[in-house]
Amino acid sequence: MAKHLRRLAVMTSGGDAPGMNACIRAIVRYGHYHGIEILGVRRGYVGLVNGDLYPLGLRDVGGKLQEGGTFLLSARLPEFVDVDIQMRAIEKIRRHSVDALIVIGGDGSLTGAYALHTAGFPVIGIPGSIDNDISGTDMAIGIDTALNTILDAIDRLRDTASSHGRAFVIETMGRSCGYLALMAGMTGGAEIVHLPEVELELGDILERVELAWRRGKSHVLIVVAEGATFKAEEIVQFLNREHQEYEVRATILGHVQRGGRPTHFDRFLATRMGVAAVDALMGQNDGVMIALKGTEMIHVPLEQVIGKVKPLPSAYIESMRILAQ
Ligand code: ADP
Ligand code: F6P
Repeated sequence: MAKHLRRLAVMTSGGDAPGMNACIRAIVRYGHYHGIEILGVRRGYVGLVNGDLYPLGLRDVGGKLQEGGTFLLSARLPEFVDVDIQMRAIEKIRRHSVDALIVIGGDGSLTGAYALHTAGFPVIGIPGSIDNDISGTDMAIGIDTALNTILDAIDRLRDTASSHGRAFVIETMGRSCGYLALMAGMTGGAEIVHLPEVELELGDILERVELAWRRGKSHVLIVVAEGATFKAEEIVQFLNREHQEYEVRATILGHVQRGGRPTHFDRFLATRMGVAAVDALMGQNDGVMIALKGTEMIHVPLEQVIGKVKPLPSAYIESMRILAQ
């Protein structure tokens, strides 16, 4: 780690997440306060490899706190697994006299950050992803906003489902992680959740739907994670084939979950993480991810973050079932 931190760069990478802008703002304003110049990298690792960096002043981050997405833009660059490409990125970033880099992104982006760290470049990771699949942190930037967006959709779907006595299958994002589906299912009052971590057969889903009707429910809501064995459309087809008494519809929420104004929680988390990242670098720490543990900001070595599967709080599945009676 450089003795004197004069200039640092910040980038966002992978799937954008609400709150990323709030994090960049915190890094820029807190960094400037401490006499550190900040450069923004456009389009994640694409911009890093192409040397697409530009200075960020105090006014450049004005009005960004409340905006979703990322004004630094994001991208996916699968070629970044290549060590030669990583070396090219380090060469480019050194040409800009950058002492350290802050990467805001998901587990893929943090794996790229770890590669730069092992190649000798000072890096700090900040978890930013709606999926909640990043080990070592309770929450990442964007999850809370995505959950609130999903809840809003569930509440609306319940209105129409009840009016028609229908079942709805609602598919959430989350890659191979069922967190969004489980938490939104629980707090949205869904009858059933279908998750990658806890497999259900189609027959089990049918049985639970029938049980819900027998209990006198006016609707049935089934929340399915995109990474689960059966996708929303398959479940709908199966239920419609097996049963003529009620209609079943699918709603695939898709990228709507990634956009929108960040919630208070995400703005606060993003702001704290941005400040903590600059503090870490000023304290000569690098090669770590800033993480939320309980209510505290902590440092987790990147090597303990990457390639790990984050366990799902699966105890909630049972309580959700009981409460959905
Ligand atoms: P996220 O960061 O949201 O999980 P991705 O998994 O698509 O999104 O990763 C974002 C980018 O991080 C990839 O396009 C690639 O540039 C970089 N990346 C992902 N995995 C690796 C890896 N194993 N080594 C180096 N870079 C990686
Ligand atoms: O990692 C965030 C995420 O939104 C996942 O939930 C989803 O599987 C994926 O990104 C979608 O990626 P893309 O925007 O490339 O379609």
